[in-house]
Amino acid sequence: MMFPEYRPRRLRQTDRFRSLVRENCISKEHLIYPLFVVPGKKVKEPIDSMPGVFQMSVDNIVEEAKEVFDLGIPAVLLFGIPEKKDETGSHAWIRSGIVQKAIQAVKRSVPDLLVVTDVCLCEYTSHGHCGIVVKEKKDVFRIDNDATLELLQKVALSHVRAGADMVAPSDMMDGRVGAIREALDDNGFESVPIMSYAVKYASSFYGPFRDAAECAPQFGDRRSYQMDIANSREALREATLDMEEGADILMVKPGMPYLDIISLLRQEFTLPIAAYQVSGEYSMIKAAAHNGWLNEELVIYESLMAFRRAGADIIITYFAKDFARSSL
Ligand code: PBG
Repeated sequence: MMFPEYRPRRLRQTDRFRSLVRENCISKEHLIYPLFVVPGKKVKEPIDSMPGVFQMSVDNIVEEAKEVFDLGIPAVLLFGIPEKKDETGSHAWIRSGIVQKAIQAVKRSVPDLLVVTDVCLCEYTSHGHCGIVVKEKKDVFRIDNDATLELLQKVALSHVRAGADMVAPSDMMDGRVGAIREALDDNGFESVPIMSYAVKYASSFYGPFRDAAECAPQFGDRRSYQMDIANSREALREATLDMEEGADILMVKPGMPYLDIISLLRQEFTLPIAAYQVSGEYSMIKAAAHNGWLNEELVIYESLMAFRRAGADIIITYFAKDFARSSL
């Protein structure tokens, strides 16, 4: 009879051994909490498809930011829903824009909370696309990638001028990281990092977010600029380009359905990696927990640990506050 030299079960037998040999850990220091800011005063509008998440006016965003900071979460990711939308999304870069106001207010009252901003046009354009739309002929449209880059430069610069600590471009136009890096450097913001949504799939898991950010495309879809869900080698190409253009953090989005991609990037890159546990992932867990079908606290912990195991350094999640409050 042959016995194996090493029997892993021995180390699983007691809690003390289990924690001694645990390979990964998750703590609130790794989390970023997304916030949706809307015009007005005292607004706290629930988002039906995302229980526990609200659209809030600047005054309430500030209160929320204080709470997030007091819970020990180091960063928020700001999304804005503007007063007015137009063809080019001009309210995304005006000085008195909604996100610009929110950044200033949050930095004034909670200076040590890192403020990261989503740089994209889709919440600001009347058509809901992330770039400038050109009509080719009747019912045939295309996104003008290069013309969009100039607008993204303006958006990123306006956020940083308002006090943002880091910008996160999510539009998926080619060349945006380089364009934004150049605009920041030329204006004296060399030290402001870029977290690039490097690998962003054309996913149906963004459904609830599009309610929250009021940014569903009015025609067509985002498949010409977001990635095909069937591809993984393309993720390496996208991430390589963003790294070469100067990205400081590479993000993969969505999260749980794409753990293989996080793991792939972890093996190929030394840059920090962020995973975005998107709205649809949040809503699924919330709905099942609401029905008593899943243990919410344990499933949140397990899902966040899965990101860490796959190789993510940072996790952007609507569960950040829930996790910070949990005893796990
Ligand atoms: C685009 C953007 C989207 C998300 C973050 N930034 C939506 C999209 O590409 O349609 C999705 C986030 C989520 O689902 O939680 N600005």
